[in-house]
Amino acid sequence: MKKFFIIANWKLNGSKKMIANFFKHLKFHSSTYLKKNTIIIAPPTIYLERVYKNINNMNIMLGAQNIDINLQGAFTGENSVLMLQDIGVKYVIVGHSERRLLHYETDDIIAKKFHLIKKFNLIPILCIGETEIDKKNGQTQTIIKKQLNSIFKKLGKSAFKNTIIAYEPIWAIGTGLSANPEDVQCIHKFIKSYIEKYDLINAEDITVQYGGSINHCNAKKFIEQPDINGFLIGNSSLSSEEFLKIIRIAHDIT
Ligand code: PGA
Repeated sequence: MKKFFIIANWKLNGSKKMIANFFKHLKFHSSTYLKKNTIIIAPPTIYLERVYKNINNMNIMLGAQNIDINLQGAFTGENSVLMLQDIGVKYVIVGHSERRLLHYETDDIIAKKFHLIKKFNLIPILCIGETEIDKKNGQTQTIIKKQLNSIFKKLGKSAFKNTIIAYEPIWAIGTGLSANPEDVQCIHKFIKSYIEKYDLINAEDITVQYGGSINHCNAKKFIEQPDINGFLIGNSSLSSEEFLKIIRIAHDIT
């Protein structure tokens, strides 16, 4: 039996009305399905407290989508890890490709954020993955190594203890074109063995999720792969019906 982590990344989506409807549906249908695996919801920062109030007694954890590299001070528009911790956040997504590409976050910035998240005892969900061109050029492993190495460089040999890695091939995110589950299995195995080589952690204690166009039709084949330990879900996490279907599939298989 494997423990599975299902994370909803709502990105820049949601409203007061959406949140009310989402949790009304989840509370009505879900109690037995939420116990077995770890379910995390990462709404936009402005809705974190609203979601926090809704997940009370529900076996759902609160996640954030980003932090600043500073803890406090004159940094207009930012949120710090201390503030997120203060309001009940337990997990923080870091290194998502949308932040790497649209907000120009470098491996160095991502390593700093990863370090801060761990320093304040929250759990980072580190996103890594290749572009379509990288894949065509056979560069997937090289890109992944580079992304992992920058974390090792900053944090040393215990970098990946109490962390989650989300392998998200960029070409599969939001496109409806998920990766092939067997290919993902091979890449997850590679990620685990690479980390095990340089970190004190054992491969079986490393959690690697897959993200990229997961839905209730393709979820089963991914869950069945031994080294896929969870999902990071964008579009399909915005509908409580669809999200719950995926949770139920994981519940029945794991
Ligand atoms: P998607 O997004 O499920 O919409 O492809 C995944 C992600 O970006 O985390």
